[in-house]
Amino acid sequence: MTRPMCILVTGGAGYIGSHTVLQLLLNGYSTVVVDNLDNSSEVAISRVRELAGDRGRNLSFHKMDIRDKPALEQLFASTKFDAVIHFAGLKAVGESVQKPLMYYNNNIVGTITLLEVMAAYGCKKLVFSSSATVYGWPKELPCTEEFPLSAANPYGRTKLMIEEMCRDVYASDPEWKFVLLRYFNPVGAHPSGRIGEDPHGIPNNLMPFIQHVAVGRQPALKVFGTDYSTKDGTGVRDYIHVVDLADGHTAALAKLSDPKIGCEVYNLGTGKGTSVLEMVSAFEKASGKKIPLIKTARRPGDAEIVYASTTKAERELNWKAKYGIEEMCRDQWNWASRNPYGYQTEAKKLGA
Ligand code: NAD
Ligand code: UD1
Repeated sequence: MTRPMCILVTGGAGYIGSHTVLQLLLNGYSTVVVDNLDNSSEVAISRVRELAGDRGRNLSFHKMDIRDKPALEQLFASTKFDAVIHFAGLKAVGESVQKPLMYYNNNIVGTITLLEVMAAYGCKKLVFSSSATVYGWPKELPCTEEFPLSAANPYGRTKLMIEEMCRDVYASDPEWKFVLLRYFNPVGAHPSGRIGEDPHGIPNNLMPFIQHVAVGRQPALKVFGTDYSTKDGTGVRDYIHVVDLADGHTAALAKLSDPKIGCEVYNLGTGKGTSVLEMVSAFEKASGKKIPLIKTARRPGDAEIVYASTTKAERELNWKAKYGIEEMCRDQWNWASRNPYGYQTEAKKLGA
């Protein structure tokens, strides 16, 4: 019997990571997660195991910081990885402006350490979590992978630099294979309601904030800007169901086996733009909850309209998002209503 392919998933306890690990297990991969639990909970790992049934035994977890080189080396010395999916990183834009060095240290030093250890152990296949943030305020739409790149804040600069680092590493050694995935706006949760997004502190992004309002953790949603040149004056984004996004990673892994691939970049989005007010109304419909709104000024650094061209991913990864806004809101609410305090809900119920 051939052994299942073994994938190292950095940041695999986090929001996108946990959904991806589940899809990998269900697709027959064996996965090793390393995560320092800085923005996540080990409960996510046990729930992924539970959802994967028998295949849950193919998941192992190490609480580890990817900047801890000796620990990472030890792991590579004991396990042969076929590829790495690299989610681990800090992602709050506002915080990155306040604490740029923390972001450069975590995201850049973390990635350099990972690439060095991978090279030393001869594992040269990586899928990296980049972001649509590298398109800045796009001059044309939809965003294609060839658009000029820019970054408006330290978080965005870390994504851009890591992309450039991967291109440089590939140029220096064509044995490497990289798939850089530019995510648009991941939302929703696994339909089981067992895993979902559980940000520590007050959420910065739209859907987690709406979720907190719906369960009474925040009084109202501030709508950042109602004077954009869009259908209803509010910002437009390309929201993508996190399970579709997770499936995009299995497609990316398959692509890494293509002998012709070097360092390639793909958008993962739906190609559809939805405004803030449309998203609020879809969520209200799915949840039966009223979301009180406070209309405020634009958030500095926000683009007006961002959505993806999906042509390249459809053509070369053979992947296409299946879910629409209704399913995203249904699954977001299913998760939020069952876990109003995220992975802390059980502890809260017990009065901890
Ligand atoms: P997340 O915070 O839920 O997951 C990231 C995980 O990485 C967390 O579990 C955290 O504990 C872990 N981590 C952070 N630094 C680490 C380190 N030094 N060592 C080990 N573990 C570490 O975030 P997410 O939404 O799942 O995002 C995953 C990746 O996708 C990130 O790189 C993020 O920048 C990128 N991304 C996210 C979005 C989004 O909207 N969620 C959009 C575009 C790109
Ligand atoms: C944010 C990040 C971006 C990252 C992306 C990934 C910022 C400035 N940018 O972008 O770097 O790649 O997430 O998902 O944080 N909105 C409100 N009220 C809120 C929150 C958001 O009206 O409380 C609006 C925003 O103005 C925007 C839309 O909702 O029009 C989506 O916002 P958000 O979820 O933060 O995503 P992005 O702005 O795309």
